[in-house]
Amino acid sequence: PRSYVITGAASGIGAATAALLRERGETVIGVDLKGTEVEADLSTPAGREAAAARAVELAGGSIDAVIACAGIAAPIALTVSVNYFGVTDFLEYLAPVLAKSPAPRAVVVSSMASLQANSPELVEALLSGDEPAAVEIGAALAAAGPASGYLNYPSSKRALSRWVRRECISERWAGAGIPLNAVAPGTVISPMTEKLLSTEEGRKMVDSSVPMPLNYHSDSIVLARLLAWLTSEENTHTTGQTIYADGGADATLRGDNI
Ligand code: NAI
Repeated sequence: PRSYVITGAASGIGAATAALLRERGETVIGVDLKGTEVEADLSTPAGREAAAARAVELAGGSIDAVIACAGIAAPIALTVSVNYFGVTDFLEYLAPVLAKSPAPRAVVVSSMASLQANSPELVEALLSGDEPAAVEIGAALAAAGPASGYLNYPSSKRALSRWVRRECISERWAGAGIPLNAVAPGTVISPMTEKLLSTEEGRKMVDSSVPMPLNYHSDSIVLARLLAWLTSEENTHTTGQTIYADGGADATLRGDNI
């Protein structure tokens, strides 16, 4: 079996991916705040380092793929710490271990929101790797009200998709034979969206910014299958991509102007 490390494995997309891979006979080490093999807080630098070290230990030093699903959508600065540095730092710790695998793969979960209005200043701070500066900008956005606070989320995902594209061709990833991609769900029915999708008003709000003409909202398994393929041995040449599994939302919003 291949050995997978999955963050956010206690819930939603991460849990569905862990279950799918286990069903297929693979070994999965889940990472989450609680309820998984590794319990850690990916919002802090120390939590990320401890989580990576523990995952390597539990895997006996051999990891074939990392799938980073952990994320939050709150209109607060913590969102940039979890969604951006909780992914990029964690992957960077594990890259040298992945590089020893005969078929190493990495994938992160971005979002349709990576295409929404964001804070360019925050995106730049994230891409420069300056966490204190990014958190300061995120906190100022949050203090200015909920609409502005929400910008933390699309900014974190925009930066994550750009990070994947920028990093994938480096020595650490392409140079070590590691495809590095992102997936971008539309609206997924999961604990993250449950409350919002339970009212007609909430559904209207979501659907007006993320229109899904093909098959409407998805279950987590839809993303799990794509994440499993991107991290399988079959994926040898797809890298740096943000793959939209969004029921046509990206095609609706951007048309053929790509
Ligand atoms: P979820 O809320 O069901 O699962 C997220 C998991 O991340 C939870 O188990 C949570 O405990 C974990 N997590 C949060 N903060 C953490 C931290 N500091 N340290 C460790 N683990 C932490 O949400 P869902 O829907 O499965 O989301 C997974 C990913 O998909 C997220 O990155 C989200 O932004 C993204 N996404 C979700 C969409 C949706 O409609 N549900 C749409 C687009 C993207």
